[in-house]
Amino acid sequence: MSSEAHTDHAEEERVHFQNVISTFNSYTQYTLAANNRRRRDIYSVPLEDQALLDALGYKKKLDDADEAILVNGDFLSQIVSQPDLFGNDNEDEEEDDTTLSEDNPANHPSHGEPSHSHRLAHAHEHAHSHGSHSHAAPGRKRKFRPTDFDMDKLRSTLKQFVRDWSEEGLSEREHCYKPMTDALVEYFSHAQMPDDRSKLRVLVPGAGLGRLAWDVANLGFSCQGNEFSHCMLLSSFFILNRTDQIGQHTLYPYVHSFSNAPNRNSILKKVYIPDVRPSDLPPTSNFSLVAGDFEEIYGTKSDPDEPQSGQWNAILTCFFLDTAKNIVNYLRIIHKILAPGGVWINLGPLLWHFENNNTNDPSIELDLEEVKMLAEQIGFDLSNTRTIDTTYTNNADSMLGYVYHAAFWTATKKG
Ligand SMILES: C[S@@+](CC[C@H](N)C(=O)[O-])C[C@H]1O[C@@H](n2cnc3c(N)ncnc32)[C@H](O)[C@@H]1O
Repeated sequence: MSSEAHTDHAEEERVHFQNVISTFNSYTQYTLAANNRRRRDIYSVPLEDQALLDALGYKKKLDDADEAILVNGDFLSQIVSQPDLFGNDNEDEEEDDTTLSEDNPANHPSHGEPSHSHRLAHAHEHAHSHGSHSHAAPGRKRKFRPTDFDMDKLRSTLKQFVRDWSEEGLSEREHCYKPMTDALVEYFSHAQMPDDRSKLRVLVPGAGLGRLAWDVANLGFSCQGNEFSHCMLLSSFFILNRTDQIGQHTLYPYVHSFSNAPNRNSILKKVYIPDVRPSDLPPTSNFSLVAGDFEEIYGTKSDPDEPQSGQWNAILTCFFLDTAKNIVNYLRIIHKILAPGGVWINLGPLLWHFENNNTNDPSIELDLEEVKMLAEQIGFDLSNTRTIDTTYTNNADSMLGYVYHAAFWTATKKG
């Protein structure tokens, strides 16, 4: 990359990062405004209907939702209160002018992180200690207004906290993470002692809020998570490095939608996080999160000073394969970086994140049979293939629930 292109890229990343921080800081105002719409709508119905709604305590529910939103907002602003950790100042905070703005779906792919081409600089460093973003020359700053798409990612992040770091998320983790860690422990059954396990290097690409990677490190393995979403990275940093007590934070993850609620408790459900002390890892464990795009860090353009080829004893992909634009490249990288005698453990659906994207990104959308055949062609032997029914960031109390029939397998390199 020329130095000019590099500067442009760094600047683009810096702006994106600032926008993510603005989104966090805009949450309260934005979400209160959405709740206020419900309040205004009461006055648009006939007076006698209003009286009936009043008798139900509907307004009181809206007031309680406001309180819950304030609590969420406080939590989210704590997460971004030290953005300098990533080498950024929260410089646009003063200018943040948040009003409800219409989402423009044309600006975004249909799912996933819209800024997939952005990654934090110095991706090869620990996500939580790096930071040398260049700062742009002073000029007129454009006001950033988070769209509903941006806010939706934040709302999803709150639910992701439940999945990864709350007692309520336990059942989901038992369905998703436990079969993977069980398979890992079984595959390396000869490594029972902490010293043996800590020599085994496990990679978790698309680590989300880091719990699967943490669980692996907690079992004594050396574990590296990889994640490229700023929203996830800021949030995982906060929970892993700035939280020291069980139940330290309170969230209301389900306050954003009043649909499919059996009762008001399901909307106003309080969730405490974390359910464990994130710092309680075995002394021998070696745990890190690396920021950046999986294909860039572990693929062909990987840092020559930090070779990846054949370096990983295990790779755990949980709800990750379908984030690929080109699944062939994902599988090829996994195959290349897996050590001889290593194991790849997968669990997830095939909700192709780039299907129907509006950003002209390519998207190869194989069915499960094709993915398995491709894995064989690339040089894997698949075993333990089975289907695991599981939810993903589910609200157990909702009248609506999605169940994925997720594909599980363990795979080794053909001998
Ligand atoms: C569906 S989520 C799954 C998160 C986590 N594994 C779990 O099971 O909760 C997929 C994650 O992969 C991340 N991701 C997607 N594409 C990525 C890429 N190319 N490099 C690194 N992370 C990526 C997303 O930001 C997101 O956090």
